[in-house]
Amino acid sequence: NLGTITIPVIVHVLYNNASQNISDAQIASQIAVLNDDFNATNNDINQVPSLFSPVVADSDIQFTLDQVIRKQTSQTSFGTGDAIKFDAQGGSNVVTPSTHLNIWVGNIGGGILGYAQFPGGSSSTDGVVVSPQYFGTTGTATAPFDGGRTTTHEVGHWLNLRHIWGDGRCNRDDFVSDTPTSDRPNYGCPNFPTTHCRTTDMTMNYMDYVDDECMYMFSNGQKERMRALFAAGGAREAMLP
Ligand code: ARG
Ligand code: ZN
Ligand code: CA
Repeated sequence: NLGTITIPVIVHVLYNNASQNISDAQIASQIAVLNDDFNATNNDINQVPSLFSPVVADSDIQFTLDQVIRKQTSQTSFGTGDAIKFDAQGGSNVVTPSTHLNIWVGNIGGGILGYAQFPGGSSSTDGVVVSPQYFGTTGTATAPFDGGRTTTHEVGHWLNLRHIWGDGRCNRDDFVSDTPTSDRPNYGCPNFPTTHCRTTDMTMNYMDYVDDECMYMFSNGQKERMRALFAAGGAREAMLP
């Protein structure tokens, strides 16, 4: 057991207009959501139905804001091709990715809320990207994605979690045994129970596609998959002191 895992965070703010230069308060609100969601101290955790309450996880992962880098850019939208991660492309270069989580906040465009790189990829692009209107809970955060859960979801990917439906049909796996199989993402705010693949979907899991206020848990299996990265031999082992 590794105890509490603490991850220092670098936030890069890339802004083309003033409203994209989000406030320190908006950044702080996002760090607070990460700390709640990865420690099961989110105030909506009590909405988990009794069917799933035995597998609710306190992942015991903490996030500390280490540095905020602000840069004006001529880019009006960055897309998902990682330009935002390079000075030479109007973005901002990654900072010490072996020991820090890098979060780039800038307009992705195309209606995309955020995207992430899984462990094991290039260190120059390691981290997550979130559009400013889906980052944090205050300032320019916009409903129904104003609960900071886009970043929770993306950090879940960065910590090796797959989408809860395994991105496929009923026989596709998310490599987590306590999350029921499904054959599709859920959207909006689904009724409970919602059934696909003859089991009740865990629609309230952060790794589904529901609205921010309708996702409020990780499972124990997801916790083990995330924390395994920091154990000996794991892809993020170097992140621990
Ligand atoms: N579409 C994005 C992804 O697959 C993020 C979805 C986030 N959902 C949310 N309710 N905030 O990584
Ligand atoms: Zn995703
Ligand atoms: Ca599963």
